[in-house]
Amino acid sequence: MYDGEPSPGRNDPCWCGSGRKYKKCHYEADNRLQQLYDAGEEVPYRSLLKTAADVEAIKASAEVNKGILDYVGEHIGPGVSTMDINRWVEEYLAAHDAVSADLNFEGYPYSVCTSINDVICHGFPNEDDVLKDGDIINVDMSTIKGGYFSDSSRMYCIGDVSPERRRLVEVCRESVKAGLAAVRPWGHLGDVGAAVNKVATDAGFSVVREYGGHGIGKEFHEDPFVSFVSQAGTGPILAPGLCFTIEPMVNAGAADITTDEDNGWIVRTADGSDSAQWEVQLVVTEDGYELLSW
Ligand code: MF3
Ligand code: CO
Repeated sequence: MYDGEPSPGRNDPCWCGSGRKYKKCHYEADNRLQQLYDAGEEVPYRSLLKTAADVEAIKASAEVNKGILDYVGEHIGPGVSTMDINRWVEEYLAAHDAVSADLNFEGYPYSVCTSINDVICHGFPNEDDVLKDGDIINVDMSTIKGGYFSDSSRMYCIGDVSPERRRLVEVCRESVKAGLAAVRPWGHLGDVGAAVNKVATDAGFSVVREYGGHGIGKEFHEDPFVSFVSQAGTGPILAPGLCFTIEPMVNAGAADITTDEDNGWIVRTADGSDSAQWEVQLVVTEDGYELLSW
């Protein structure tokens, strides 16, 4: 087929491992993918499409991931350092037979990313970064359990946060909801980014171009790249089984970024304005999508 892989005979077991006959399982979907490919559409390789068993395994990983973000929500506040959060993460992971996907990923040196105020993403946990009243922080958690990856992030408002910062956090969250509402099986990935982008820019904010969402499941970062500066009707087809994240980084000021030269990781707004991010992980289904981590 279009992905260079063979297809089983109609009465043979499906390639996905469901145990069902190919004609009763992926046969129709595969034909549709091939037709779309032949018509010039960008079509995800079938190896990216998650089976029911894959989705169950991702959910088990996501239970830990969500549990960590819940725990952070219950304990975060003024006086907590971002290294405290890193310690909570490590303890929670160890107690749940899971490990951080971040730690050692391309050399990343911590178990979680903690990004305060003008830090867009990849903030390092630090003993000296003690949260104070009025801060906003993104805690981005990624878990490996049973060989499967989950990834989501949330914003936390520390104490009495200004209306401007609250609005940034809320608009970013609404943009993710709009992105989810644009997920349609057999639609285009570009629809999702366009919907996210509209909410953020209509509110007067900007959207980071260099970083986006990603496929995920058997690897941390799989294809496709999920842009939030995309056009509707473009990009890969949202085939059922495609699992990816929606994780826009929304800046109060300009979209431009700078990367810390000392460590090569920490990304900040070039103009020093605040930045917010929420991240969810979903799988496209026959009739919509299922949220896996948030
Ligand atoms: N969690 C980030 C994401 O949402 C990736 C962080 S990579 C790390 O894709 F190495 F910085 F942890
Ligand atoms: Co992600």
